[in-house]
This record gives sequence, C-alpha cells and structure tokens, in this order.
Amino acid sequence: MLILGIESSCDETGLALYDTEAAGSFAPGASSKGSWNPASGLLTHALHSQIEMHREYGGVVPELASRDHIRRLIPLLGEVLNRAGKDKHDIGAVAYTRGPGLAGALLTGTAMANALAMALGKPVIGVHHLEGHLLSPLLSANPPAFPFVALLVSGGHTQLMRVEGVGRYELLGETLDDAAGEAFDKTAKLLGLPYPGGPAVSALAEQGRHGAVTLPRPMLHSGKLDFSFAGLKTAVLAQARHLPASDPEAEQARADLACGFVDAVVDVLGDKSAAALKQTGLKTLVVAGGVSANKQLCAALAAKAKKSGWKLHFPELALCTDNGAMIALAGALRLQADAEAADWSYTCDVQPRWPLEDLVGA
Ligand code: KG4
Ligand code: ZN
Repeated sequence: MLILGIESSCDETGLALYDTEAAGSFAPGASSKGSWNPASGLLTHALHSQIEMHREYGGVVPELASRDHIRRLIPLLGEVLNRAGKDKHDIGAVAYTRGPGLAGALLTGTAMANALAMALGKPVIGVHHLEGHLLSPLLSANPPAFPFVALLVSGGHTQLMRVEGVGRYELLGETLDDAAGEAFDKTAKLLGLPYPGGPAVSALAEQGRHGAVTLPRPMLHSGKLDFSFAGLKTAVLAQARHLPASDPEAEQARADLACGFVDAVVDVLGDKSAAALKQTGLKTLVVAGGVSANKQLCAALAAKAKKSGWKLHFPELALCTDNGAMIALAGALRLQADAEAADWSYTCDVQPRWPLEDLVGA
C-alpha cells in the first residue's frame, strides 16, 4: 500500500510517499532483519523549512508557521507524486502528524490529510510526532532491531524510552523542565547566535577549548533517568554576562562557553543513556529527534558504545529534524501492526499536547 505522510507540527512542511510492499514483509515487534527492509519502502520525501522566515524573529512565530504550511502543502504533494511517478489515486492511506506541536500548524496538515483522504475514499492515520522520530532510524541503511532504548532529543522533548516494538513504549525518564534542543536554542540566543540554535552552538563549540569553562551537569548523579536543563541555561547566562567585549578575545571566550555548554549536555545525555541501558539490560541505543544531528553527541556516544559494546543507531542526517518520511513510516507501521489504525471518521482533532505514553496499547 502507498502511504502519504504529512508533517506540519512546527516549522517544517514535510511530505513523503512510503510503499509498504517495497519494504517487504513486516510483523509487529519484528526485527529489521530477514525480508523486511524498512528503508526501501521510502519512495521519496520533500521538505520546506521555514527557518529563514522565522530567523528574523529569533524563534518560531506560530501564526506565520501555519500560514506558510498552507502555502507549501499542495505544491509539495505535487512534488512527491511527480518524483515517485505516482498519481494521487494510487494513495492507499494518508498519515499525518496529529500532535504534539503548535495547534495551528498541526491543523493545516490535519485538514489537508483528512480532506484528501475523504476525497479519495481512503483512511487517515493520525501519527504521534515523537513516534515518528522514534522510528526514523529504521529508515537508515543499518536499521536497529527491537528491543532498544531510545533517547529522544528534540526542541520540545527529552525522553528515554524502552521500545519493545511498534506501539510498545515505556517511559524511563524525561526532562523536568527544558528540552535539550530548547537549551541549545536558549544558549544560542545568549551567545548572540541565530535561530535555530543547535547547529550554530555546535559549530561555535568546535572552536572552543574543552575545560576552559566548566558548567554544571544537572541531575547527573540523581540516580534517576530524568533530566533538567533549565539550570544549565542559567549558568550560561551568568557566564555570558562576563564575556570580554574586545575581539579576538571575545570570540574565543564565546567559543569556550559554547564548548562548555555542549560538553555538559553531551555528558548528561551520554551518562543517562548508559544508565538506561544498564537498568533495562538492553544493548542497543537509538538516538532520534533534532539534537541527534549534533556532531559532538554522535562522537561521544560512538566512543561510549565502542567501549561498552552497545549497538548505536541514528537517523540519516536529513531525517534527524522534522520530516514527512518518518510520519509516512510510522503510519505504515501502525497500519501494518493494527488494521484498526485506519480511521475513516475524518475529524480534524489535533493533539497539541499528547504524551507518547498514551500510545501504549493504543
Ligand atoms: O526534532 P526537531 O526538528 O523539532 C522538534 O520536534 O522539536 O528538533 C529541533 C531542535 C531544535 O531545538 C534545534 O536547535 C535542535 O533540534 N538541533 C540541534 C542540531 N540540529 C537541530 N541541536 C544540536 N545540534 C544540532 N546539530
Ligand atoms: Zn520533531
């Protein structure tokens, strides 16, 4: 079956076409071995990022995001159909991001998905955005096998999950305040870097000296798998006030501070992931969400994995941040795991706040 995936939860409009037959046979909870190769189901995906538009405001402006999604959705649909050599009547089901995210932005993709599916006489599948991220590493050349521990690090969430299979998730720990991506974005602002902060802070940190600035590692020794990043941001704020004003000293000091911040985040994420693997007895760590694109995090986790003998999986770089491919995949897997995921009611009820644990057993 051909699944159209639509993502519009924040500042990226993403559409994708996923062919379940091309991926081979899938059984719920199956490992990605044998005849199932999830990556080969992805026929194409197209993305429009609104980053440039929001940059002058220093962050996402929800109303502008919604209006831009409306402008992009239909042209992107034409683009993916053209690229895959398909017609809209070939679509068997439409998967869309139902939440969590910005209400207005979610409504645009939801309305398009429901209207299109109704016109075609096909079902819709409302996908949880984080489930999309969680499953996105399955689209890589070397997909993980279930079960695994997932470290979900995005702009709005930081969670450790035990993943037994599609829809079988257990929350192990999460942030009590800011998400890791949010901490990157806020630190970027304090350092005078543009939105989105993650890539900019990461690039500046590469010029910094390890240990020149040492920042706190919140909750590192709490014995729990929860996180807290708000205090780290406050520590950056305190240090930023004392940055020297003159060049080139100022540039090096900013880079040292960025480096100290990245080292602290990476240390906390790495140690908590290791603790989650130890607690669950699992040997595979899957990292997903926008912060999984972070070079320093990849390098640190790769070193830990090598030392401890874990398997480590990331999404393809282009699929770390928001995209339609992960939504098409999640919709396809939901449908294959449970035929009742096909929804014919065509209601546009988005879920701006939607805990991933609500999906358990759903
Ligand atoms: O998953 P995502 O695209 O959107 C949400 O679901 O939130 O994640 C966006 C977040 C932003 O906070 C952004 O700064 C962060 O991911 N991010 C990064 C990098 N690329 C994106 N953080 C650190 N390093 C990066 N290279
Ligand atoms: Zn996301």
